[in-house]
Amino acid sequence: MEDSPVAGSPVPQVDTSRPHSARMYDYFLGGKNHFAADREMAAKVLASTPMARTSARENRAFLGRAVRYLAAEAGIRQFLDIGTGLPTANNTHEVAQAVAPSSRVVYVDNDPLVLAHARALLTSSPEGRTAYIHADLRDPAAILNDPVTRDVLDFTQPVALMLIAILHMIPDEEKPAEIIATLLDALPPGSYIVASHITGEHNEGAAAAEGRFQEASLKAQWRNSDVFARLAFSDLDLVPPGVVLTSEWRNDEPGPRPTAADVSAYGGVARKP
Ligand SMILES: C[S@@+](CC[C@H](N)C(=O)[O-])C[C@H]1O[C@@H](n2cnc3c(N)ncnc32)[C@H](O)[C@@H]1O
Repeated sequence: MEDSPVAGSPVPQVDTSRPHSARMYDYFLGGKNHFAADREMAAKVLASTPMARTSARENRAFLGRAVRYLAAEAGIRQFLDIGTGLPTANNTHEVAQAVAPSSRVVYVDNDPLVLAHARALLTSSPEGRTAYIHADLRDPAAILNDPVTRDVLDFTQPVALMLIAILHMIPDEEKPAEIIATLLDALPPGSYIVASHITGEHNEGAAAAEGRFQEASLKAQWRNSDVFARLAFSDLDLVPPGVVLTSEWRNDEPGPRPTAADVSAYGGVARKP
């Protein structure tokens, strides 16, 4: 088993007094890594949008299907997963290495609690590699130039850039389009981007949650499908079925699907020509 060390920077403090998106998402998924402030804020969100749990579960299932598609059908062996979240079921390296054990994954998150749990993300198949860096999506150059990123990923070969359930935390004034362009410019043709995004289009409660996040000083900007598609996938070749509800993206599972109101998130995958 080959592990990469967590980047050697000092471990930042976990601020448990304020809610954090990673811990709230973990709460919605039924995990155990959250504090009172996260639970309080999550309870407020659930009061108006009880579907938040369904939305989180569908997002996670989308992540699994997208990574499986990339590894099994698109032949991708390298993943840059920004906004990793706390370790849970079907982490990116587990899904990718189940298909192709030689897959390499660099995880990136800015939550100190994710950093504290990073060791759980650093188990790799012997043939592949996983690494974690504590960094911020809003500083894409730092992510690209980090020695760990450079060591684990070969930028002459295709890479899948994963921005799953993170872009709705980058409001327009933080220039998400420029951030994505910087990241994609560094990747060779044949690379992919995978992204998912909360929308308020189908559910008034979900739309109102944006304001609740902002009141709690959490960054939030929900986007509709057109705006999300333009932001994440402009000038790229969208993989069918395009930008759809996360629950609908290449989902072959039989049985009833949650409603658009309950999912309230879009996902898509596109290839850099
Ligand atoms: C909702 S979770 C999504 C986790 C995982 N991608 C998934 O979809 O299952 C969002 C993650 O993005 C991280 N995050 C939010 N803003 C970030 C930023 N500016 N830079 C790096 N990570 C960020 C949070 O700490 C959290 O772990």
